[in-house]
Amino acid sequence: MRDRLLALAESARREIGGASELSAVEALRVRYLGKKGELSGVLGGMGKLPPDERRSLGEVANSVKAELEKLLAEAVERAEAAALEAQLQGPGLDVTLPGRGVALGSRHPVSRTMEEIVRTLSRLGFDVASGPEIELDYFNFEALNLPKDHPARDMQATFYVDEATLGHAKKADSSVLLRTHTSPVQVRYMLNRKPPIRAVMPGRVYRRDSDITHTPMFHQVEGLLVDKGVTFAELKGSLAAFVTAFFGSDTRTRFRPSFFPFTEPSAEVDITCTNCAGKGCRICKQTGWLEVLGSGMVHPNVFTSAGYDPNEVTGYAFGMGVERIAMLRYRIDDLRMMFENDARFLEQF
Ligand code: DAH
Repeated sequence: MRDRLLALAESARREIGGASELSAVEALRVRYLGKKGELSGVLGGMGKLPPDERRSLGEVANSVKAELEKLLAEAVERAEAAALEAQLQGPGLDVTLPGRGVALGSRHPVSRTMEEIVRTLSRLGFDVASGPEIELDYFNFEALNLPKDHPARDMQATFYVDEATLGHAKKADSSVLLRTHTSPVQVRYMLNRKPPIRAVMPGRVYRRDSDITHTPMFHQVEGLLVDKGVTFAELKGSLAAFVTAFFGSDTRTRFRPSFFPFTEPSAEVDITCTNCAGKGCRICKQTGWLEVLGSGMVHPNVFTSAGYDPNEVTGYAFGMGVERIAMLRYRIDDLRMMFENDARFLEQF
């Protein structure tokens, strides 16, 4: 039994000395020192020995066990050190390399401009409202004093919607189109409320136009104020206040007589050129002025469409093109840049 014990110790020494991986060391520990391991196997018959032999064999067994435990612990250390060394020698991790930056997106210049226009008007007391982009001819034209065959309809080349694609039979009273401006929201808004009214209505509009300065879809912001006794002076004062709040206090405003079917009288609003401050340059075609919005006193027929009595209330309205204002603001000289989604362009905002 003693010889078997020494032989076992000898082979264990050799094998543990040769084990270089943690898993191999663990396997050897189980094989020699485990509950069903070789050492237990040899010592299994010890109970039958006479007490003297049992004691001396026990001493040998204990010292073999202690030795193997020590050897295993050293083997674990060696294996761990080797694993660490291998990792350090392996594909390097350069902790001095700069970190990877997180690329942040940015708001599109059209969205930014539209939000800023709306925010500026909100500060002047306007509520924000919206309406549908697929609109009835009635709200887009008729209710705005643009009856069928009115020549002013030509100013806004219209996309008509084939109503079969909407899944219902053609309505006799009004055909369906993509709104050509945000003005129909004025009527929808008034229909649902009583004066006084003060609202700003941003949104997308569509026209059958496509060239260097026109895209089939663009954005507008509409404004409407209705109350008893509103005058043209208020229109001028409010729009001048908007212009200085939005473009800066040095910007001057000029009102030019104009025509829109839904306002009477109507005026277009020019501001001093944002590029040359009024001296005259290529952007303002040497005039010193830039046209930024259309406006006027709400036409009595529009009030009638909305169910208001034009003898009781008056009001003003205005509308502006967002892309145009964004181009002036950020000095973008090509409208097409707005819709090409070129990251090199968009990153600048
Ligand atoms: N709807 C006009 C357009 O699309 C802009 C406009 C002009 C709106 C005068 C108004 C207004 O509310 O009073 O060109």
